Amino acid sequence: MMLTCFALPGFAAGERTAAAVSPDGRLAIMLSLEDGVPRYSVARDGRPIVLPSVIGFRFAEGEPMSRGFESLHSESRVIDETWQPVWGTDEAVNDRCTETVVHLVKPSGRELIVTLRAYDDGVAFRSELPSAQGFSDYELLAEETEFRFAGDHTAWWIKADYDSYEHLWNETPLSELDAANTPVTMRTEHGLHVSLHEANLTRYAGMTLKGSDDDELALTCELVPWPDGVKVRGTAPLLTPWRTIQVGETAGALIESHLIENLNDPCVIEDTSWIRPMTYIGIWWGMHITKETWHDGPRHGATNENVRRHIDFAAKHNIGGVLVEGWNTGWDKWGAKDAYDFVTCYPDFDLPALAAYARERGVELIGHHETGGDVPTYERQIDEAFELYRSNGIKAVKTGYAGGIYPRGQHHHGQWMVEHYRMVVEKAAEYGIMLDVHEPIKPTGIRRTWPNMMTREGVRGMEYNAWSEGNPPEHTTILPFTRMLAGPLDYTPGIFDITFNDYKPNNRVYTTIAKQVALFVVLYSPVQMAADLIENYEDHPMFRFFRRLPCDWDETRVIDGAIGDHVTIARRSGMNWYIGSITDENARTVRVPLDFLGETRPYSVTIYRDAPTAHWETNPTAYEIIGESMSPGDTLTLELAPGGGAAVTLSPHKY
Ligand code: NOJ
Ligand code: CA
Repeated sequence: MMLTCFALPGFAAGERTAAAVSPDGRLAIMLSLEDGVPRYSVARDGRPIVLPSVIGFRFAEGEPMSRGFESLHSESRVIDETWQPVWGTDEAVNDRCTETVVHLVKPSGRELIVTLRAYDDGVAFRSELPSAQGFSDYELLAEETEFRFAGDHTAWWIKADYDSYEHLWNETPLSELDAANTPVTMRTEHGLHVSLHEANLTRYAGMTLKGSDDDELALTCELVPWPDGVKVRGTAPLLTPWRTIQVGETAGALIESHLIENLNDPCVIEDTSWIRPMTYIGIWWGMHITKETWHDGPRHGATNENVRRHIDFAAKHNIGGVLVEGWNTGWDKWGAKDAYDFVTCYPDFDLPALAAYARERGVELIGHHETGGDVPTYERQIDEAFELYRSNGIKAVKTGYAGGIYPRGQHHHGQWMVEHYRMVVEKAAEYGIMLDVHEPIKPTGIRRTWPNMMTREGVRGMEYNAWSEGNPPEHTTILPFTRMLAGPLDYTPGIFDITFNDYKPNNRVYTTIAKQVALFVVLYSPVQMAADLIENYEDHPMFRFFRRLPCDWDETRVIDGAIGDHVTIARRSGMNWYIGSITDENARTVRVPLDFLGETRPYSVTIYRDAPTAHWETNPTAYEIIGESMSPGDTLTLELAPGGGAAVTLSPHKY
């Protein structure tokens, strides 16, 4: 009964229920109060997606805020705005939804305010507990919010881990998911795609999801704890992040959604002119494959000479930046407390001279702060560290938190670190610095508010191919539909020497070279790396694609995709289109109807693709580059090798 009326676009909120219905009338989120317990549910076209699920909070002291509510009242409004991101996958974003604010009141007068939002591409809700008599300083022991799904969907998930998102993805029935980090993406038996995540994670703990004992299709919020088990401490009001459920008819629709950004506040940085997407190379892969070392010595990577060589290469090939890791003292004590010094250079690295050398050549030097998880030491030095970069004209810094967090017992994804990561974003903005964070907290859309928060890892990236059993061919066909829904990722694609036998004969990359090029488009990052040693790019025809790559897009369209199998994404910058198409371990023919091209005139098309004999395992570097002329009515056919891909540029003919 409830679900039937729920589906009706004209549904009127009764006394014990309230709802928000999406602008297209198809998606609805409802909150009802029965026996004093608030439960929300979600449906699309009348079909349930989330069955009535509890929203609740339990504190160290005071009454539980999960039951005992006696009344409910609500008010609704329509939001219909368009905003321009400083950078992103589309030049303008529509923020259109219905919002219903529901007040649930206890006999004591204590209130739980739940805000529901229904967009065409998903729903979200967040809870607020205002300050009240006996509710000021609080310790939250549990958020008991549930997600009771209506079917045993196919789910893609990584295991719950309070310190890392660097895992391979599982594909299982939802009922087999025991504990996961978000996003978790699902496909229903009707082919609907649903992804569960959170938006605007601020002064709160990261959410993981736990399977439930009494309902195998239910997941419960499990917040990452402080060392003493408390989940969130603060002073009222308590405001949770948005709990988000993206919904799309196709897998690709999830990628095109801007739900997560729409649930964040507008940009607070007044002058954003210094925030600029860019491509970059780095003194980086050499360390991972043991050609070089981070610490000084005979194989030190960050030497004056080597940095200058990279700056020259970047200047010559139109690359925006050069990352330099291993420039500061402390790498010989990696992992120890108080190891790193963020202002003292190794003797063979002259920071001011190299910064000037880069500036003169129009190249950004990208700084590096590896904390090794030693957050107190970093916080002590952070002003001095950012000032050193600022005063040398360095505008981008990669940070890292490899290893357990000091103080021990704190987790990367707990509230304490959520607040640390945010403090660093705000401080970087003060110093005019863009960030690329490794071992980060997951993205939740704060880039809208703080667009200097460019990109981050939070993914099992390229480095795993250097020193582990590697990332299988299907890995990058899952990421766009899961991790990437949360935000940009610094995967660091572009390894051309696929087997790097000169350095590590037992490790390799599990793709063809054409797929490495395609990843530059598929794996969106506003600061996008070509990760290989520069000697592997010098004079390589496939590198031409990267030299032209914009990292900021006016439009993004997903042509086709199936999670874990393949994906093809087209992105526009001005009048030019770029297409990236990748497959898992299976060969595939991909057809791209060119009806999305804006102009009626012909386009010059350059295709960087697998050669007919290419195979990720046996013949990964066989490629060809083809030039053609095509028109908007044509269909582009791409033959992808096993573990392969293709990258395409399309520019309208000049009149
Ligand atoms: C792990 C990061 O993911 C990697 O990019 C970096 O090179 C090392 N830590 C050292 O900071
Ligand atoms: Ca890492």
